[in-house]
Amino acid sequence: MPKLALLGGEPVRRLDERPYPKYPSIGNEEIEAVIEVMRSGNLSSLRGHKVKEFEEAFAKYHGVPYAIAVSSGTTALHLALAAIGVGPGDEVIVPAYTFTSTATSVLMQCAIPVFADIDSRTFTIDPEDVERKVTEHTRAIIVVHLFGCPADMDRIKRIAEEYDIAIVEDCAQAHGAMYKGKKVGTIGDAGCFSFYQSKNMMTGEGGMIITRDPDIAERVSMLRNHAEIRGLKDYLKRHSPQEAFNMLGYNYRMTELQAAIGLVQLRKLDRMNEARRRIASEITKAIREIAGLEEPYVPDYAYHVFHIYAMKYYEEELGVPRDLFIDALRAEGVPASPGYEEPLYANPLYRLRLARKLGCPFTCPYYKGRVTYEDGICPVAEEICYRRGLWLLIHSELSDDDVKDIVEGIRKVVENIDELKRIRQG
Ligand SMILES: Cc1ncc(COP(=O)(O)O)c(C=O)c1O
Repeated sequence: MPKLALLGGEPVRRLDERPYPKYPSIGNEEIEAVIEVMRSGNLSSLRGHKVKEFEEAFAKYHGVPYAIAVSSGTTALHLALAAIGVGPGDEVIVPAYTFTSTATSVLMQCAIPVFADIDSRTFTIDPEDVERKVTEHTRAIIVVHLFGCPADMDRIKRIAEEYDIAIVEDCAQAHGAMYKGKKVGTIGDAGCFSFYQSKNMMTGEGGMIITRDPDIAERVSMLRNHAEIRGLKDYLKRHSPQEAFNMLGYNYRMTELQAAIGLVQLRKLDRMNEARRRIASEITKAIREIAGLEEPYVPDYAYHVFHIYAMKYYEEELGVPRDLFIDALRAEGVPASPGYEEPLYANPLYRLRLARKLGCPFTCPYYKGRVTYEDGICPVAEEICYRRGLWLLIHSELSDDDVKDIVEGIRKVVENIDELKRIRQG
């Protein structure tokens, strides 16, 4: 009788009988905050005051003067690049291993994403490769604090200063994470957050841009609300009409309902991050000794907030392909995933330069550089995508018993790996 659930054995946890707790956990506070807004009748930020309150609280939490709420993490990135002045002819260096919109936000500004490799331990952008990829066309770097682990910001800052390049921090997975005691998002020129419902704090959908730069803050505020100059006489006093009217604005506003949820979630953020860290440390203790699995690396400089528990998998040690191992974990009830399955440049959008009609921005006559999206440009990202990445989808609401089951599921698959090897041979 096989032991492994994948082969017909009894699973460690039957998810149909005992599902994991739901995430996000929506408490009475969030519900009442939304009802209050509904009763007020003001659902738009143009009428109510919740978005403003949320912005003030978020800025205060980060110790920065400006926070501007928007409709998503993607629109936050888009507006940060627009406000910095990224446009046709510019290159923006982005990591090859991240969520799609870190790079599509660059295309939205008709600029060219140039992919840099990642550090094999932290999975964040590799400063050495960033420096190799800088050209005379580089206008900005987007650094992603992936999975809640801050990137190596001192080294990135040094490069940015040397070549006069702006830094945008993509903090979509890292609310409250810290680099050398500084909150992520406060180190570069602008920090961008997502409040999609799986994030460390959430508003269903939503985003935020934080900055210390009053010009960036002003431009972002205008761009998210159609960049209408009407009522902005003051702006015209300080800027040329060329500058003032040369702005393509959007409606990227956050609603009052989202902001009301965000205010509650922000109050819970530190506690939720601490819970994620505790869970991660329990899992790490349990799997540290398992040959073939490598726990997430936490650099000395980091306060890691474990949006995802990202491990490395070694087929050479365990003797079965990663996907089979993951199938076996899932059958036991372990929330496992291979994660990002290819580096972003493998997407036909880049590889075939299909982004828009007529290949814009790759065919743009203002673009004088030569970007490449071939296999091999970011070997570490490729290795993590194709062979090594193994994510556990953890969150703050998991109980000690849930974590025990996750660990037991992993141990059980490792202890019975010969059963998997046999089906491979069979
Ligand atoms: C690293 C990263 N950047 C950007 C985003 C985009 O955020 P949103 O889904 O709110 O547009 C996400 C969200 O999944 C993300 O993980």
